[in-house]
Amino acid sequence: MMKTNGHFCIFVLIGIILQISVAIKAAPAVFVFGDSTADVGTNSFLPTAKIRADFPHNGIDFPYSKPTGRFSNGFNSADFLSKLIMGSKRSPQPYLLFLKSGLNSKMFRGVNFASGASGLLDVTGKELNIISMSEQIRQFETVCSLLKYLKGKDVAMKHLSKSLIAISVGSNDIFGYFEKQMTVDPAVYINSLITAYESHINALYNLGARKFGIISIPPIGCCPSQRILNSTGGCFEIENTFARAFHSSLDALLKKLSFKLPDMKYALGNSYEMTINVIDHPQLFNFTSIETACCGKGWLNAEKTCTPDANLCSNRDEYLFWDLYHPTQYASELAATTLYNGGKQFVAPVNFAQLAAC
Ligand SMILES: *[C@@H]1O[C@H](CO)[C@@H](O)[C@H](O)[C@H]1NC(C)=O
Ligand SMILES: *[C@@H]1O[C@H](CO)[C@@H](O)[C@H](O)[C@H]1NC(C)=O
Repeated sequence: MMKTNGHFCIFVLIGIILQISVAIKAAPAVFVFGDSTADVGTNSFLPTAKIRADFPHNGIDFPYSKPTGRFSNGFNSADFLSKLIMGSKRSPQPYLLFLKSGLNSKMFRGVNFASGASGLLDVTGKELNIISMSEQIRQFETVCSLLKYLKGKDVAMKHLSKSLIAISVGSNDIFGYFEKQMTVDPAVYINSLITAYESHINALYNLGARKFGIISIPPIGCCPSQRILNSTGGCFEIENTFARAFHSSLDALLKKLSFKLPDMKYALGNSYEMTINVIDHPQLFNFTSIETACCGKGWLNAEKTCTPDANLCSNRDEYLFWDLYHPTQYASELAATTLYNGGKQFVAPVNFAQLAAC
């Protein structure tokens, strides 16, 4: 008996050591950029931002049912990814909260810069008074400068090179194309988005970032807000065509950059495939509603945003969409888990776990 127990202990010990070494290898920090899919309260600190979620029923499933500015009934994908990558409870806090309470060394474990309604282009969301991607990167530059000042350049650069840069952006640029009824050729427009992405990645790289976890555009034509543009309630297909084209161009860009920029590594999450897989097989994930928003008003609960007087579903874990644009907490958790340890069909050339560990 003693002997068996002894072996058992050794196995447990080896298991623990392996886990510790994995934890040590993983990213020391997560810096999050992008739009409302990753915003954990940025817009709540902007008095004039016209897109915000700092009121009920948003946050109804968050601890204490607190509306935190997340466009969700609870946590979002940035929270679940941070939890998986760093073992933290949730996403690093918004840059603007650090700014308000004083920049401090907690920032070196990560910061979230994402701002709802932003896009790759500076013009996207401009009239909504949010923080553009370019501005988010300027804020990151401030964090990098502080890091270099406090820790010395070498330590700072090493830290940044191991940190995970998570970016979820692009949908609002495509919504913008249709809302503003642009007439520029779709291929030309997508090219302009990819050029903007390239300059953002270059800027981050020049500041010391090396590991990029990039999340592409979901089938945005299947959001409840876009389904109601189709008289059958089906997906608004042309937007999905844009999303697929964007993904292939982004894939090509990242391949090119990883050859060009020494030590640049990336994982590209295919939100399109991940989400279509759920829409095509809802029962596999226990979803009963993939078309209707949980919180909202009107047809598909998608004619109004989620406000205190909106309709609210009770079985929120059975809904793909929280409001007319955004996934529920449960859908966000599924997405984050797939990005973290999913197969090549959903995230390539490596997944976020492999990216964090490399
Ligand atoms: C509307 O949805 C149907 C499926 O219900 C689809 O066949 C059709 O292409 C969609 N129309 C548009 C304009 O996207
Ligand atoms: C779906 O629900 C069943 C029954 O409650 C459960 O056994 C299964 O694990 C669930 N599947 C997922 C993907 O959560």
